[in-house]
Amino acid sequence: MQMGLTENQLSLDLLESWLKNNPDSAEFKNDNHSLFKELALFQDYHGLPAFKNSLADFMSEIRANKVTFDPNNLVLTAGATSPNETLMFCLANLGGAFLLPTPYYPGFDRDLKWRTGAEIVPIHCSSSNGFRITESALIEAYEQAQKQNLKVKGVLVTNPSNPLGTSLSLHEVNLLVDVVSSKNIHLISDEIYFGTVFCSPGFVSIMEVLKNRDLMKTDVWSGVCKIMEVLKQNLLRCRVMHWLRLETRG
Ligand SMILES: Cc1ncc(COP(=O)(O)O)c(C=O)c1O
Repeated sequence: MQMGLTENQLSLDLLESWLKNNPDSAEFKNDNHSLFKELALFQDYHGLPAFKNSLADFMSEIRANKVTFDPNNLVLTAGATSPNETLMFCLANLGGAFLLPTPYYPGFDRDLKWRTGAEIVPIHCSSSNGFRITESALIEAYEQAQKQNLKVKGVLVTNPSNPLGTSLSLHEVNLLVDVVSSKNIHLISDEIYFGTVFCSPGFVSIMEVLKNRDLMKTDVWSGVCKIMEVLKQNLLRCRVMHWLRLETRG
């Protein structure tokens, strides 16, 4: 059982008025036809296909349609803790480590490590450059993990960052892509707060970088890296795990 799910009470008024204006939904109906059995009984573990299709569209829409998402690559989860922990179970066992830029969401020490046995090794970022990720800090963290006899399985970033609220620059995302592909490790991009960025023209999602660098189609890319993107759609207590080329490696 996963007890880590937080909730957003800021949008309850919106939810309440939407439900009032759409009574069919509250009664599990569509055009007066009951959907109760369809929803209550056993269904696709990955999420209802119609819901995944709508979410894939919504995820593109909030990225100004610069990228598209294949609903077949989405798994819906109850919260973002759950996919983050699941990814750790899949990608890193005891003796495995993920590198995380500091400062990071303190819940990660619980979510990523407690049950999986994986370790977090910090990528030390400093206020002197606005907590930007540098190549030297990344490499230092990688080497530090090796000194601790840990096998580095990947890098996990939150973009926008919790707790900083800042977004990664294009340079940083490119750097991450270059480093994970050269080291043949994974990149998890936790973009759960992306939908709350309203005035950040500089925001760039990992998907955009992959697309702009034409990396999504190349065999080289599929051979070297896996990208996970975790989104949080705050109004609904639902999170989305989007993956590209989930292969076993390292
Ligand atoms: C960056 C980040 N990832 C994951 C989570 C966990 O999200 P959830 O409450 O949806 O499980 C949080 C929660 O605050 C978070 O800030």
